[in-house]
Amino acid sequence: MASPDIIIRNGTVIDGTGAAGVRADVAVTGDRISAVGDLGAMGGAEEIDAQGQVVAPGFIDVHTHDDRYLFTHPEMAPKASQGVTTVVVGNCGFSLAPWRNAGETQFPMSLWRDREDLMFETAGAYLEGLERTPAALNAAMLVGHSSLRYGAMDDVHRPATDSEIGAMQDSLRGCIDEGAIGMSSGLFYPPAQAAKTEEVAAVAEVMAAKDGIYTAHIRDEAEHVMDALEEVAQIGRDAGVQVVISHHKASGLSNFGKTKQTLPLIEKFQEQQRLTLDMYPYHASSTMILPHLVHRSRKIIITWSQPRPDVRGRDLAELAAEMELDLEAAAKALAPGGAIYFQMDEEDVQRVLSYPGAMIGSDGIPDDQHPHPRLWGTFPRVLGHYARDLGLMPLEAAVHRMSGLPAAQFGFKDRGELRDGAFADLVIFNPKTISDSATFDAPTEPAIGIDRVFVNGQTVWNQGRASGERPGRPIRLGDTSRGGYM
Ligand code: ZN
Ligand code: CU
Repeated sequence: MASPDIIIRNGTVIDGTGAAGVRADVAVTGDRISAVGDLGAMGGAEEIDAQGQVVAPGFIDVHTHDDRYLFTHPEMAPKASQGVTTVVVGNCGFSLAPWRNAGETQFPMSLWRDREDLMFETAGAYLEGLERTPAALNAAMLVGHSSLRYGAMDDVHRPATDSEIGAMQDSLRGCIDEGAIGMSSGLFYPPAQAAKTEEVAAVAEVMAAKDGIYTAHIRDEAEHVMDALEEVAQIGRDAGVQVVISHHKASGLSNFGKTKQTLPLIEKFQEQQRLTLDMYPYHASSTMILPHLVHRSRKIIITWSQPRPDVRGRDLAELAAEMELDLEAAAKALAPGGAIYFQMDEEDVQRVLSYPGAMIGSDGIPDDQHPHPRLWGTFPRVLGHYARDLGLMPLEAAVHRMSGLPAAQFGFKDRGELRDGAFADLVIFNPKTISDSATFDAPTEPAIGIDRVFVNGQTVWNQGRASGERPGRPIRLGDTSRGGYM
């Protein structure tokens, strides 16, 4: 047997399955893990001492908006610095591909209009783009339902006609054939709000033959969260596809505690259909400036404002006082822009995080000027703050939620588990020190305790810095353990 390229010695291996950590060495040959165990007699071209550290499968960020960032910032520092090795892009109904919108577009697509070379007309072109100019991390793409609407409709503020639904189906079918892993919807957002349940189910149905996955930013996460959950479960059943509830939460001061009802409902669905969820570990959310959200939040921070670029990072209440406007009028005056809304109950956050089926997704918005700290902090925050410091779950369970569990749910073959023969997507971290540093005031501080990160056998992050290597690959539906005709 050829001697391995790398041997990581003396670490505690947490393999991503949820099994207890064990003392073991890990050998990497090419892009794969070639041995795990006591490798005392073996010699590697490079030897790494991981004494006192954990060696785990690289994390999978199942909910991102990194579609374009993979090209504009291929080192992917916000994610690589957290130990993330694979991202799922195209969430909340918005994907960079297929780009076929002739007319008006809104956030976030309006931000993507300035680089013609990055407006990919097909999913195939997007995935080939990731091959031609690779990023540091692997990526799988979802097709956004709102992106499909922009491509098929002259006016998105009404339900789609039968022929428009037909056009969206053809477009989605093409994307799935080219390797997109599924579809996302964002029925909460203006470009999709007018869509009926039946429209989304009809479009999603074309993925069933190849078992594409359906991820949902549901229509309402506040007063009507239960109805909105019913709606996407219905879409999953009617279309015959697996559902992922995105960034599950109960929003708004008057809905504190509501996850005591939503989680049992989700469990009930799980008895009848394939349905799961992801979440980010913070009690504040972030999206565009939406004036109707101001009254359900304790506090709002402006993350960017087109008319007032100078106010990023500032408190809306303060700004409103300065502008001599009420909160809602101030928000209107600052839009279009982005904001952070303190509108969740910490107990709800911990309840969802404690739910054994909850995957972790950052939902970070990488082009934001003053982003929500989830962009740089999500994964270390779960491992450090929640698992270690608050004792919400064992470290092995936390690692499982961000590696083995999402790999199984999304069908990422040979990823998400640390074992002989799997891809060498790995993270070495210090379980005693790992923690998020990004805060609402200083949101782009890299996490502490991540020692080294490998993607497909190559180092992408080492001692607090991007290595400059770009070994990431697109993960196509055909390469997954989904993608077969059922
Ligand atoms: Zn969303
Ligand atoms: Cu999102």
